[in-house]
Amino acid sequence: MSLPRHTLLISFLAAFTAGAADFKKDIQPILEKNCYECHSEKNKKRKGGFVFDVLETFKLDIADNDVAQIRPGKPAESHFLDIMINNGKNHMPPDEQLSAGDIKKITEWIAEGASFDKDAPKLAPVAAKKVLPPIMSWTNLDGKTIKAGFVRLEGENVVLRMPANAAEVPYPLAKLSEASQKLARDCAVP
Ligand code: HEC
Repeated sequence: MSLPRHTLLISFLAAFTAGAADFKKDIQPILEKNCYECHSEKNKKRKGGFVFDVLETFKLDIADNDVAQIRPGKPAESHFLDIMINNGKNHMPPDEQLSAGDIKKITEWIAEGASFDKDAPKLAPVAAKKVLPPIMSWTNLDGKTIKAGFVRLEGENVVLRMPANAAEVPYPLAKLSEASQKLARDCAVP
């Protein structure tokens, strides 16, 4: 199985889509409309060996291993989602493209654990790693601008990295403008 090309997009979607997906309300209708025609016990269609209307059977495709179609909590590694986004072999549904809204819901549902039970505990969404610019502008109460990188908050200080020599210098938060104090706090959130 090749690595999904849209891994980044999927990680992004997973990180920024809030809210809890409910399989019966949000996901099953999408599959019913777009997939049951060829993947349903009721319609006696088991294309590729997959059915999604009998949940006991569908459940067998959901597990955290290399062969499962859906890996709970890992949309970017779920083949099921990849073939709905990518135009490679076995794109699903074969001659159509699910809407961005439907893709988002399915991504969310997988990211939260791909459970059929809306009351099951949700997995925490995968957090995107924050990348801070190496040098930012800080203003102090005297109106002076300090160009430095953010390192961390430490007690009442913000530790800044000076671009000239990379030295880490603690600076009292209270001496920064309100906007710069807020910037420091925002930077500290992972
Ligand atoms: C018009 C019929 C049709 C529809 C609609 C359809 N599929 Fe398929 N699907 C197939 C066929 C045929 C195969 C087997 C392809 C093969 O093995 O070469 C398949 C295979 C698959 C596979 C296995 C793919 C692989 O790479 O092994 C998955 C997963 C799948 N479909 C999911 C879906 C999902 C999800 C939907 C709805 C969003 C969907 N399909 C809609 C016909 C369909």
